[in-house]
Amino acid sequence: MQFPPRNGRRALITGITGQDGSYLAELLLSKGYEVWGLVRHSSSSGTARIDHLLQADDERDLRLRLRYGDLTDGASLWAVLEESRPDEIYNLAAQSHVQVSFEMPAYTVDVTGTGAVRLLDAVRKVAPAARYYQATTSEVFGRAALNPQRESTPFQPRNPYGAAKAMACYVTQNFREAYGLFAVNGILFNHESPRRGEGFVTRKISLAAARIAAGVQRRLSLGNLDARRDWGFAGDYVEAMWRMLQADAPDDYVIATGVAHSVRQFCELVFAEVGLPLTWRGNGLSEVGLAADGRELVTVDADFLRPCDVDLLLGDASKARRALDWQPTVTLAELARMMARHDLKMQSVDNA
Ligand code: NAP
Ligand code: GDD
Repeated sequence: MQFPPRNGRRALITGITGQDGSYLAELLLSKGYEVWGLVRHSSSSGTARIDHLLQADDERDLRLRLRYGDLTDGASLWAVLEESRPDEIYNLAAQSHVQVSFEMPAYTVDVTGTGAVRLLDAVRKVAPAARYYQATTSEVFGRAALNPQRESTPFQPRNPYGAAKAMACYVTQNFREAYGLFAVNGILFNHESPRRGEGFVTRKISLAAARIAAGVQRRLSLGNLDARRDWGFAGDYVEAMWRMLQADAPDDYVIATGVAHSVRQFCELVFAEVGLPLTWRGNGLSEVGLAADGRELVTVDADFLRPCDVDLLLGDASKARRALDWQPTVTLAELARMMARHDLKMQSVDNA
């Protein structure tokens, strides 16, 4: 199938207030795009990650427009598509926390799965020429029998979030095939940054290590220390999203570093960075991470264990490397340093 040449530079981002949305908005604005963002209404402002873009005193702020809407409200999706008439649509909005998806499965499926279908259906009718990016996830692989996981690896999600994302992925593929939409899935492995939500494990660790180093927190409680993830830097991953929509034809891509580390190893990197190298003692629920002076800095708490966890996710992004000329630029040690330094600096600002 032939797709029209790309000449438009207007993008709509759902989830613009999230980690990835903020980096993607920066990237698109730097490329000269007009960016429209869909935001949920809240009684307190939720725009902290993009306030620097909204308050910019150059012409960039004129190219960033926000509209209220919600993936659970189809009418608001139609309205923002009608008004913005985007050339590119990035659907990043989701209830994206795996543990929360066990606590609120129906809501998670409604936002993360059916929400994507609502948006795709509106795109098909209102903006069928737009290029559509669906934020899919390595969580669709779940209990994968083979490592590393690539585009052809069967889906076996292990939680309601992964199941909802699998549905969004399948419907994206289906609309591509049935209606000729330029619709792609980015199957992204974990990606982190100083803007990562505080409930995800890397940021929970970097914030706690900084607070412990500053003397305002005593210890950090975690769940499964053995879980291994393929962690990259969010700034690299939004570049891959953009490249997917610049390709000649729509396709799905795994985006990953190809290296996995455990939660325990990430703790070691971050605590060393704040000047508190860890040693470990015990195992299971009794395992503790000790400071050089014997203080128990990291403990295991059953409250943070999931009903079932994904033990290992490891991606093979060779297709993206070949077809999109994409590769990650930040190692895990560099990422840990970036996050630890950011959170240490936040402590010194807070305590000033
Ligand atoms: P995030 O920080 O949790 O951001 C999620 C965004 O979705 C926020 O802007 C949030 O708005 C918005 N949102 C939540 N529910 C919504 C609803 N009902 N209607 C409209 N907007 C809603 O997630 P992220 O880390 O940036 O990830 C971006 C996307 O990639 C998500 O779809 C996530 O599932 C997926 N993904 C992430 C990773 C990763 O490692 N980060 C890996 C693979 C896939 P509020 O600010 O109002 O909460
Ligand atoms: N959140 C959290 N909190 N996770 C913990 C903790 C803790 O205290 N202790 C151990 N973990 C383990 C989890 O059990 C999981 O195995 C691993 O750390 C990573 O957890 P998260 O950082 O919450 O991320 P995730 O892998 O479950 O999901 C993230 O990555 C997916 C891509 O694979 C999210 O960003 C998803 O939205 C994304 O799709």
